[in-house]
Amino acid sequence: MASITPTHNTVEMTPNAASKTLVLAVTGASGSIFAAEMLRALEEDQRVARVHLVVSPSALRVFAEEFRIVGRNALVEKLLGRQSEKILLLAHEDIGAPIASGSYPVDAMVVLPCSMGTLAGIAHGLAGNLIERAADVCLKERRRLVLCVRETPLNLIQIRNMAAVTEAGASVFPVIPTFYNHPQSVEDIARNFVHRVLQHISLPQPSAYTWGSTEDSSS
Ligand SMILES: Cc1cc2nc3c(=O)[nH]c(=O)nc-3n(C[C@H](O)[C@H](O)[C@H](O)COP(=O)(O)O)c2cc1C
Repeated sequence: MASITPTHNTVEMTPNAASKTLVLAVTGASGSIFAAEMLRALEEDQRVARVHLVVSPSALRVFAEEFRIVGRNALVEKLLGRQSEKILLLAHEDIGAPIASGSYPVDAMVVLPCSMGTLAGIAHGLAGNLIERAADVCLKERRRLVLCVRETPLNLIQIRNMAAVTEAGASVFPVIPTFYNHPQSVEDIARNFVHRVLQHISLPQPSAYTWGSTEDSSS
């Protein structure tokens, strides 16, 4: 009887193998710290193999205001505090980038923070820059798209745009902090929000705060 050579299922053998490809888009709404915390979490997450980062020109303007980071040069290093092998910064106007095509596999896209301008562009299918186009692709391919909108108060146009993207399959995930987890710093607030977003796209974080658990591991 012929011997059977054991075959190994790579996924089973290495359950933590990096396999996820994500898009992180940063637009010109206030809250640069949320984007920076998201980048840090994705950089550290062993399940994430590749992050396509797209930063709008207006987001750069907000970075300059909130972080005193100027320009696109070495942006990932400046935000992360170190170099990254997995985070790839793409040009906002490069509608020929891989994530602009549905043939390129992407597990989920997060826009954090998401300006009302980009929300409107996505809601109306404009696809006029790489962020709008990649989001459009996620919707047509029925992939996870999370729009972390930030504005207050809201006008009726913005509310209708949120309804439109929700009907098209996106999640509207407003940048709203929590306090029941007793955050000790602005970073804590941003981190907890990021953990909630990652849980929403099936990347639960081991250090995330869970309401009802006896241990508070968020600090
Ligand atoms: C410091 C600063 C803060 C801003 N905050 C917001 C905001 O919280 N929400 C929003 O929708 N727009 C905000 N804006 C306006 C957007 O940046 C502007 O509408 C821009 O055109 C959005 O472009 P984008 O969606 O391509 O990034 C802000 C602008 C600046 C300079």
